Amino acid sequence: MNQTARYLSAALLAATMGLEADGHDLEIHADRPGADISPTMYGLFFEDINYAADGGLYAEKIKNRSFEFPQNFMGWQTFGGIELRDDGPFERNPHYVRLSAAGHPEKHSGLINEGFFGIGIGRGEEYRFSVWARVPEGGSSKLVVQIASQSSWQESQEIASATITIDSKEWKKYTAVLKSDVTDTHACLRIFLAKPDNGDDDTHDGLDEVTVDVEHVSLFPVNTWKGQENGLRADLAQALYDIRPGVLRFPGGCVVEGTDLGTRYQWKNTVGPVENRPLNENRWHYTFTYRFFPDYYQSGGLGFFEYFRLAEDLGAEPLPIVNVGLACQYQNSDDSGRVPLDSLQPYIQNALDLIEFANGDVESRWGSLRAEMGHPEPFGMKYIGIGNEQWGPEYIERLEPFVAAVRKAHPEIQIVGSSGPNSEGEQFDYLWPQMKRLKADMVDEHFYRPEDWFLSQGKRYDNYDRKGPKVFAGEYACHGKDKQWNHFNASLLEAAFMTGLERNADVVRMATYAPLFAHTDGWQWRPDMIWFDNNRSVKTASYYVQQLFSKNKGSYVLPLTMDKKPVAGGEGQHGLFASAVYDKDTDEIVVKTVNTSDSVQSLDFSFKGIGRKHKVISVAITTFTADDPDADNTLDKPDTIVPTEQASQEAGPDKWSTEIGPKTFCIYRFALK
Ligand code: AHR
Repeated sequence: MNQTARYLSAALLAATMGLEADGHDLEIHADRPGADISPTMYGLFFEDINYAADGGLYAEKIKNRSFEFPQNFMGWQTFGGIELRDDGPFERNPHYVRLSAAGHPEKHSGLINEGFFGIGIGRGEEYRFSVWARVPEGGSSKLVVQIASQSSWQESQEIASATITIDSKEWKKYTAVLKSDVTDTHACLRIFLAKPDNGDDDTHDGLDEVTVDVEHVSLFPVNTWKGQENGLRADLAQALYDIRPGVLRFPGGCVVEGTDLGTRYQWKNTVGPVENRPLNENRWHYTFTYRFFPDYYQSGGLGFFEYFRLAEDLGAEPLPIVNVGLACQYQNSDDSGRVPLDSLQPYIQNALDLIEFANGDVESRWGSLRAEMGHPEPFGMKYIGIGNEQWGPEYIERLEPFVAAVRKAHPEIQIVGSSGPNSEGEQFDYLWPQMKRLKADMVDEHFYRPEDWFLSQGKRYDNYDRKGPKVFAGEYACHGKDKQWNHFNASLLEAAFMTGLERNADVVRMATYAPLFAHTDGWQWRPDMIWFDNNRSVKTASYYVQQLFSKNKGSYVLPLTMDKKPVAGGEGQHGLFASAVYDKDTDEIVVKTVNTSDSVQSLDFSFKGIGRKHKVISVAITTFTADDPDADNTLDKPDTIVPTEQASQEAGPDKWSTEIGPKTFCIYRFALK
């Protein structure tokens, strides 16, 4: 029996036994507009964790494309005459590979790349191969490029092939488009020197292949999101767009901090030509001993230009986070992870230069780089986060000079500070007053907390200081106590919690679930909002909750009472949570109701102060529930738990009653006339 059928039979049982399902009065005051809903609600937190960037959203399929991993051939197999060299054309990525004749008519010289857990290709799709190459001794040579299956049982492993003629002694970029007529999640890329053709049909012609140097070997789908060069995986970027996010926070997370200061995220290393962006070790490389990923590096290909461009394409405000002079505080408890206070200036300048990169005039140093990269118009950056989830006096004493410098040079930029890694407690209590003292515009709160925490937080923001900094709920997710994986009930509790964010729209101005992405073969952290393998992706129940809030965010809050009391949610109100907004674009009152209990509950809506001219005429209902609260969508069954919409029905003029099923999130859109 599915959830709807179960709910109907529970209601029937209650009726036949003469039991009244609990009835609740939800009174909405349409004539008392509350705070406006910030356009930055609800947003996205992007971090390169779980192979979210390289191997994920960034559509590049070649791992270690510039041979710069500390083990230079990691991700590659080599055969024949291969030599690693380090005087290549790209200063910050100096390594390249020389392919020379293997010394026998039957031997070949070449390379095979394994991609990120394989290379995903789709039937009928085209892939753009590119390589920087030269013939160092002159002449010309042919390079064979193949996308190949790795399944040894297949008769032919070759899926698509092209031959490129390398004809210059100077380094040049060569490209070819390969089309696949099969789908394979774990293919590989092979490149090798072609044997010179002596005019007969024998492919194994000679010994004397001409030496070729290769560098920055790349393979992208032609169909990236919006067809952009150096672009994004179309399905993943589209899933982000479909949320209609109001803000995009990037590039993390702990990657901002690094395992040590040397591996912190440095935005300047991620702009300019991709070939010359230096590699960085990813902080999630070896964070969890139960899931080591020694091949987890950041190519910088998805860099700050691409993040700003993505935010713009999504219609979201960009919110970059910069390092405050601290490496990850979990991994560094002493001075080695702290930049001395008298050496902070380059870090501060880094933040100022970032503002110039995003917003500066095209004549300015960093603005001109943005223009060169194809975006002369400013990106219109309004916010900067200084430090990730830092804590302690060591954070505050570093943040202070940043705030002074940014305020002085850019009073127009809003500053986001941190309240540490916990939702409450000693650090939290220390940091909030400090944020007020420093006059941060927003405070980034993080909470990865269990079910009972989410159930108890309906009122969290009701008593926050209305005059202090605003709240950015910058990382949150319900983590089941015994279920450290995505499941519907966690998403339901996130929805319940979010009604409290919405009712306190004057305080909470941004909110982003975290983390955003996870590769099914390469995750370090779960739950996550979107899972993917090399070809497919799946939107979790938590994704749909974010999307439902975002698409129904409305324009301003309306006061709402439940059984004549302020809505607080939780046990005191039978597990019901709710919020109400008015949407001025559609002239609708939108009520979100989350029933976290196991019982059907009756809801009696009444609308006060609609006025003579207005009345409620109809209601459209979106329902989000699941047969199994412990389950979620999967790559194989991506549409098990999805919102359903009912055709609009008559309601009003100033009242309407309904029932909400157990463990159900409903959005009621009341049309006015
Ligand atoms: O989202 C995963 C991690 O959680 C983030 O990198 C960090 O900010 C938090 O501790």
